[in-house]
Amino acid sequence: MNPNPIDKRLARRSFEQAAPDYDRVAVLQQEIARRMLDRLDYVKLTPSRVADVGAGTGFSSELLLHRYPRAQVVAVDFALGMLRLARRRGSWLHRPRAVCADAEALPLADTCVDLLFSSATLQWCNDLEETFRGFLRVLRPGGLLLFTTFGPDTLGELRQAWASVDGYSHVSSFLDLHDIGDMLVRAGFADPVMDVERMTLTYESVPALMRDLKTLGAHNVTGARARGLTGRQRLQRMVEAYERFRRDGRLPASYEVVHGHAWVPWQRATADGVAVSVELLRRRPR
Ligand SMILES: C[S@@+](CC[C@H](N)C(=O)[O-])C[C@H]1O[C@@H](n2cnc3c(N)ncnc32)[C@H](O)[C@@H]1O
Repeated sequence: MNPNPIDKRLARRSFEQAAPDYDRVAVLQQEIARRMLDRLDYVKLTPSRVADVGAGTGFSSELLLHRYPRAQVVAVDFALGMLRLARRRGSWLHRPRAVCADAEALPLADTCVDLLFSSATLQWCNDLEETFRGFLRVLRPGGLLLFTTFGPDTLGELRQAWASVDGYSHVSSFLDLHDIGDMLVRAGFADPVMDVERMTLTYESVPALMRDLKTLGAHNVTGARARGLTGRQRLQRMVEAYERFRRDGRLPASYEVVHGHAWVPWQRATADGVAVSVELLRRRPR
């Protein structure tokens, strides 16, 4: 469980408002999605159904449609405004289906998905282990979960700058890669592989960074956030503290991108041993 839970209602509203301008500023998210797609080059899988969970405006749903032209791609997001845009992706012959739902409670049938793809979204889930259990349920045996999320060093400069001003949480807390790997295993996934990629965006000024975060819908919506307006003076002190990070005339914003993938086992342990479905064994590649 997230010790500093996300206020889902606020998060959803924030993404709803962000939808119209999201693509204009989501350069990092788009680069992450492209890199995830590249990783599929090394995976032997011909999915019939792909779920893109936290699809946003459907940038990765469209890449998935191109990559798997015979597959049905289902864009899942809890913000309807995002999904409206995702539904327009692709061609009139081949568009993503859209499901408006919380990733923590997917309203999809058991074992109906071959590939569950989730880019830059899981940091918005309060109970990641339970979320993984839900992913395992909707994935078929032998299916693949491929995801990215953000690690604890993400926006470290902003976190440090705020810490020198007050004791509130101004930046969401992010889980460590090892904890995420352990959760995958406890949820029942097999062969998890995790790694981290560090990416840095540079900005002219702190307000430019704050504007981008706002446009992305990436507000801090945790319970421990400061309520009410942040005073002008405190904001000014945070900006001054952030200036210490300036290098070569630019301000860095660091992202720790956690990549993970894991497989659904072909057989599951039960109290009496293991259960293996004959139909599923027939589908298993030899
Ligand atoms: C940072 S955006 C990433 C969007 C897209 N995957 C991309 O890479 O551009 C996060 C998306 O996840 C959605 N989201 C966040 N928490 C969610 C949840 N619990 N259930 C479903 N969607 C969620 C938001 O509405 C938003 O569209």
